[in-house]
Amino acid sequence: MRLLITGGAGFIGSNFVQYILEKYPDYEVVNLDALTYAGNPDNLKEVMGNPRHRLVQGRIEDGGLVDRLMPGIDMVINFAAESHVDRSILEPQVFIKTNVMGTQVLLDAALRHKVRLFYQISTDEVYGALRLDSRERFTEESQLRPNSPYSASKASADLLVMAYHHTYGLPVVISRCSNNYGPRQHPEKFIPTVILNALKDRPVPIYGDGLYVRDWIHVLDHCRAIDCIMHRGKPGEVYNVGADNEMANIDLAKTILRILGKPESLLTSVKDRPGHDRRYAIDATKIGRKLGWSPAIPFDTGLPEAIRTYLPHQP
Ligand SMILES: NC(=O)c1ccc[n+]([C@@H]2O[C@H](COP(=O)([O-])OP(=O)(O)OC[C@H]3O[C@@H](n4cnc5c(N)ncnc54)[C@H](O)[C@@H]3O)[C@@H](O)[C@H]2O)c1
Repeated sequence: MRLLITGGAGFIGSNFVQYILEKYPDYEVVNLDALTYAGNPDNLKEVMGNPRHRLVQGRIEDGGLVDRLMPGIDMVINFAAESHVDRSILEPQVFIKTNVMGTQVLLDAALRHKVRLFYQISTDEVYGALRLDSRERFTEESQLRPNSPYSASKASADLLVMAYHHTYGLPVVISRCSNNYGPRQHPEKFIPTVILNALKDRPVPIYGDGLYVRDWIHVLDHCRAIDCIMHRGKPGEVYNVGADNEMANIDLAKTILRILGKPESLLTSVKDRPGHDRRYAIDATKIGRKLGWSPAIPFDTGLPEAIRTYLPHQP
């Protein structure tokens, strides 16, 4: 099996590239990544010498390049994206270019080259926000109600992916995962920010009242879910992925400070993000029932292990 993985030098993509090459000794990976500020070749040091892995620096919107990479590809797995909500508020056009137009270029090429599967890595953020005082969770049937330019661009890409399935018969799947944590996440994201500031005894910024609830999953559980969906998922279907692990940002930050032995006095409330989604929560019943996947890494062991990878003495 020959995979075109895009965005494979980022946080989730690099974990997935390593996972797939280790698990399937006969799989080959072409890794197309623009190496933006978020992509880091160091994330790939475990696979760099592997003859079954080839890193190509380039953009998914580059139709000529994508077309040259496509012959012989069995599956496209599209992780490439601008992924930071705060940046999307400042610079929405970059998000439309990569997340929407880039996905469309990949879809066209996948169709032309008759790939066996086009797999779009999406996010629970496309569903919008839930109320703090409800027990509601997002299912695959929940309406798409994205609130930020980031989530709107991801929702647009999802709609295009489904349109290519219905209109042209392209075999596609989409998975929508909750917030990932684990090694190699960019320092701008919440958990690395808390860890890295706390380690330097600097103020740990908390948006507004800190009562923003996110549903956390270890990145390797996400990788296992993708493995399951790419091999056994039904074309035309959407699968939610989550580990049933909701937590308010303020409580998560306090947990990290406790693990690091740092005082809660480092927590500092900062001006809130405009349009900040209150709560996300994923109902992952479908992937469990249909594909037999369930998360394997409990948060209380996964989080301290992940934190260790951010300590300065780590290779
Ligand atoms: N991090 C999360 O918690 C989370 C949760 C659910 C879904 N997702 C989705 O998973 C995917 C990966 O997220 P991540 O957190 O690893 O993101 P990331 O920002 O760490 O990595 C994105 C990667 O894409 C590359 N890239 C950006 N623009 C590109 C372009 N135009 N062409 C080619 N490569 C480009 C970057 O260089 C980087 O390596 C995204 O599609 C995101 O929407 C992320």
